[in-house]
Amino acid sequence: MTEEWLLDRSSTIPLFQQICDRIVEKIRNGEWPVGTKIPTQRELARRFGVNRSTIVYALDELTADGLIQSRVGHGTVVVNNTWNVIASSRSHDWGRYVAAGAHQPNHQWIQIINKAEEDKAILRLGTGEPSPDLLPAHTMLHSLQSRGDVLSLSYSEPRGSLRLREALSRYLLSKGIKAAPSSILIVSGALQALQLISLGLLREGSTILTESPSYLNSIHVVQSTGVRPCGMPMDKEGLIAGRIGPMKRQTDAAMLYTIPTFHNPTGCLMSASRREELMRVCMHERLPVVEDDVYGDLWLDASPPAPLKSLDREGLVLYIGSMSKSLGPGLRLGWVVAPEPVIDRLSDIKMQTDYGTSALSQYAVAEWLETGLYDKHLAGLREELRRRRNHMSTLLDRYMQSYAEWSLPQGGFYIWLRILLPLSVRKLFELALKEGILLHPGSVYDPGLGEPYLRLSYAYASFEGMEHGISRLAALIFQLGGKQ
Ligand SMILES: Cc1ncc(COP(=O)(O)O)c(C=O)c1O
Repeated sequence: MTEEWLLDRSSTIPLFQQICDRIVEKIRNGEWPVGTKIPTQRELARRFGVNRSTIVYALDELTADGLIQSRVGHGTVVVNNTWNVIASSRSHDWGRYVAAGAHQPNHQWIQIINKAEEDKAILRLGTGEPSPDLLPAHTMLHSLQSRGDVLSLSYSEPRGSLRLREALSRYLLSKGIKAAPSSILIVSGALQALQLISLGLLREGSTILTESPSYLNSIHVVQSTGVRPCGMPMDKEGLIAGRIGPMKRQTDAAMLYTIPTFHNPTGCLMSASRREELMRVCMHERLPVVEDDVYGDLWLDASPPAPLKSLDREGLVLYIGSMSKSLGPGLRLGWVVAPEPVIDRLSDIKMQTDYGTSALSQYAVAEWLETGLYDKHLAGLREELRRRRNHMSTLLDRYMQSYAEWSLPQGGFYIWLRILLPLSVRKLFELALKEGILLHPGSVYDPGLGEPYLRLSYAYASFEGMEHGISRLAALIFQLGGKQ
């Protein structure tokens, strides 16, 4: 057999596919122009050294692609050699598969935002992560080098590293949460916690109550498991607790998801009395609560009221925390505190999903919690975020007075800006993007939002960036809103 017909029998590409490729190559480079009668099946089988059935299979593929045809009395001939046919016949139609996948695609705005963020020069006015210069990369590197003796690169326990869970148990106690290491699960970010809860605890078609607007609407992890978020009204003190009971009964809701501390996207802080009322209602209604506390450490003026979990005497609250907003989103490290049967269920799914969170991240966070490095870092971060929040506040007062309303958050990252002029936020987003300014439209967090809102963040842009961004934003709002 000459090299021309030699197939690679060790390849993972099936033999029939290699034969198709070889014939297409001959048609494309003109060895077998249109009208060529190709060798018989028997002859091809001999040349390639394969069974005739493999040749029949390959020729059927090429016939279906429109490249060859069997003609009675003439054998099989080449009928097409155009690049289009060859190209389309070779590339698989993945579109059908992409549309068929169970997970919903990201929100259209979020897809555009994620793409735009690849451009390092873009000015991010709404981003939900701390700017890289607020993250302690150098100290982290140094701390990783210091104690190689306790770093394990093996898979960790199903619930996550015991050392880290013990450190978290002490850290949570400082918030009033009593959690034994056995009731803590380490996860790869709070987002994974939400996914595990949806997959492991909620039935398809069930309803989850949440604030309106909510971060939950900007991602589709819950929705992709067939769970429907149902928006609930808020006031200055947070979710209106009195509405929970009637809404639960009306929708037969299975859970409540809330971000009581420095809510995303409104920045709202739920008052202590509202927390107590909410817990009373949920205990009365037997409605489990998911408390998302990823911004809890980022208070700027005074420490917030104790988490809902600290008021929970019945094991009703599933508490979620994360290092993403304070120490580094790239660590992909968060935790869930819950009753043990829930932790068992979630950790079992997590083991089937990723065998555990990165050992390196778990080691780093345990080290930072144990040595006090985390507390020290937090103190500096709060100081810096306070300066940034105050700067953005000054800029909004200067440029935005006539165009918008907002209230200043006591922590977290966000200012929820209500634009007073009638305009299309889509147009505003597009115009700003043309100028290199990236915005977060309010409708991402509440699809039913009737008025123009933006989520602003003071955590990412530089001081100069904020100044430029807010002044240009005001100009664009004026331009689109048409009147003062
Ligand atoms: C309220 C809230 N929960 C969860 C997350 C996800 O955090 P993580 O990076 O820990 O997955 C975010 C991130 O924006 C958030 O704002």
